[in-house]
Amino acid sequence: MARSEKRDARHTLMLPFERGLLPAPLKGERYCFLNAGLVTPDDDVWLDTLDCEQGNHRDLLQMEAAGYSVTPSLEVKNYDGALVLAGKHKRLNEANVIRAWNGLKPGKLLVVAGDKNAGIASLRKFVQAKGEVEDSLSKNHAIVFWLAKQDFIWDAPSVVEQVEGFKTSPGMFSASKIDLGSQLLVEHFDDRIRGSVADFGAGWGYLSGMLLKQTNKLAHLDLYEIDHASLEAAKTNIEDKVGDARVSYFWRDIISEPVTRKYNWILMNPPFHEGRKADVALGESFIIQARRSLQPKGKLLMVANMQLPYEAILKKHFIHCNLLAAKGGFKVFEASL
Ligand SMILES: C[S@@+](CC[C@H](N)C(=O)[O-])C[C@H]1O[C@@H](n2cnc3c(N)ncnc32)[C@H](O)[C@@H]1O
Repeated sequence: MARSEKRDARHTLMLPFERGLLPAPLKGERYCFLNAGLVTPDDDVWLDTLDCEQGNHRDLLQMEAAGYSVTPSLEVKNYDGALVLAGKHKRLNEANVIRAWNGLKPGKLLVVAGDKNAGIASLRKFVQAKGEVEDSLSKNHAIVFWLAKQDFIWDAPSVVEQVEGFKTSPGMFSASKIDLGSQLLVEHFDDRIRGSVADFGAGWGYLSGMLLKQTNKLAHLDLYEIDHASLEAAKTNIEDKVGDARVSYFWRDIISEPVTRKYNWILMNPPFHEGRKADVALGESFIIQARRSLQPKGKLLMVANMQLPYEAILKKHFIHCNLLAAKGGFKVFEASL
């Protein structure tokens, strides 16, 4: 990784190895790496050792380009070492640590790192209640800790939740309840939505599922989603509602990867932050991609947080923009060219 790049938990994760506190992997050993990120692109020992799991399609492509072996869903079994990068979802972090622990050979190393503002201290406590953390380091506003696998299996709690008949799991958008904005958008689904339809940022399939429940006038319904686990959940959640529509799933970053089909309607509740801060540019990129992906008389139906300036952005990119509702902190817009 370039020296000028901002250093974060990924660098901290490798620190005990760089400082010689932990031994580098031996040739032929296999380490799993959960919620993997770019850590040591120049170091062949690691590149040859790591089996990486990353469900975000953009991050996965970046890692593949750097030479890592990456899959969105890894079977964690019989590993000689395990690395886990903690993200911002507590229960997902805990589930990853348990998977890594259970998939290690006894005596082998589990190394966990995360940013201080993403709950790494509480993850350490969670681990410590079960195993014996050997040591830790703190750098780059992040903490890394490590421990050796003891010879017992850590019971994994079920991570599947039921939300009004939909299956979700930790780490997905609105995993414990239906998002109020999405709910408001669904109130504006009507018979005009027909033909070829896309759901941009489909999550675990709420919008698509509700649309399929309401209409049998769809020729195609295409779900686009960057997060692999969410898209897999969407498949399960809508399979019993599909009827005659031809449904396709695209595990894809709709901002940096092409959308080749053109649609009569695009539905979306666009993401408005990647980290902790609101990022209107992300929503604007979704709007620009929607405009490009509509047929000449196509329409965009979207919901957004009331305080974000999406009305002005829609007016910049579309000729017509109607405000259909403003309620409970959200606005629903219909836009066309
Ligand atoms: C606000 S959520 C809406 C989810 C779902 N449509 C709903 O209404 O419950 C936005 C979704 O967009 C996905 N997403 C974020 N960036 C994306 C991108 N660049 N390409 C595709 N999907 C993306 C997120 O993973 C998330 O599931």
